[in-house]
Amino acid sequence: MLTVTSLRKAVPGGRVLFQDLNLTVRNGQFVAITGESGVGKSTLLNLLAGLDRADAGSVVIDGTALELLQDDELTRLRRDRIGFVFQAFHVLPHLDLAHNVALPLVLQKVDAHEALARATGMLEAIGLGGRGADYPRQLSGGELQRIAIARALIHRPGLILADEPTGNLDPETAAKVMALFVDQVREAGASVVLVTHSPASAAVADRVLHLTRDGLVEHG
Ligand SMILES: Nc1ncnc2c1ncn2[C@@H]1O[C@H](COP(=O)(O)OP(=O)(O)OP(=O)(O)O)[C@@H](O)[C@H]1O
Ligand SMILES: [Mg+2]
Repeated sequence: MLTVTSLRKAVPGGRVLFQDLNLTVRNGQFVAITGESGVGKSTLLNLLAGLDRADAGSVVIDGTALELLQDDELTRLRRDRIGFVFQAFHVLPHLDLAHNVALPLVLQKVDAHEALARATGMLEAIGLGGRGADYPRQLSGGELQRIAIARALIHRPGLILADEPTGNLDPETAAKVMALFVDQVREAGASVVLVTHSPASAAVADRVLHLTRDGLVEHG
């Protein structure tokens, strides 16, 4: 369960992106967040992931308040409980695909053989079986996006944060990647906060929220 209470964040220049922002995401719930460019969606996801700190308010993940944690504790919580699909992939160019996907397990000190075996299984699940020894530069945008999704899910985190994971793809590939994403997170029973501009992507969510200058507004 994710609970956000009275969250406030201003950009370094001083402009307030949001204040008194509240959000609850139950276990296994899939929430989509839409909103115009620059309104603060990526900033909000970074706060939920503990990659950035709020000016005020609280983010609680499964009973743990992020604002009370030291940086090293935050890193551990992120590593163990959160999967993040970034707006710009963040796939590591010098690691082959199997090692990219296995990375969260390696950081958790899972045995290297087991980590690579699970990564190989995950590559098959996302339609990239047999390509574990390839490098990111050999992949298309849609394939890279699937690698980013596989890496966010492989350690079975309870909370998946995804920032426009199909933003750079043609509509057909985007639909395929999103279907794969939904299958994987439903199978894992994870909670999801998905930022997206795409109505088709938002349609798969249990709830759709719109981020405006007045905070999060529920749709429908
Ligand atoms: N380090 C920074 N210094 C100053 N302003 C920043 C900084 N980081 C973000 N901003 C500003 O904060 C605002 C929110 O940025 P954010 O990336 O959260 O928007 P977004 O809703 O994700 O937009 P998009 O849909 O284009 O990805 C933007 O106006 C951006 O210029
Ligand atoms: Mg963004």
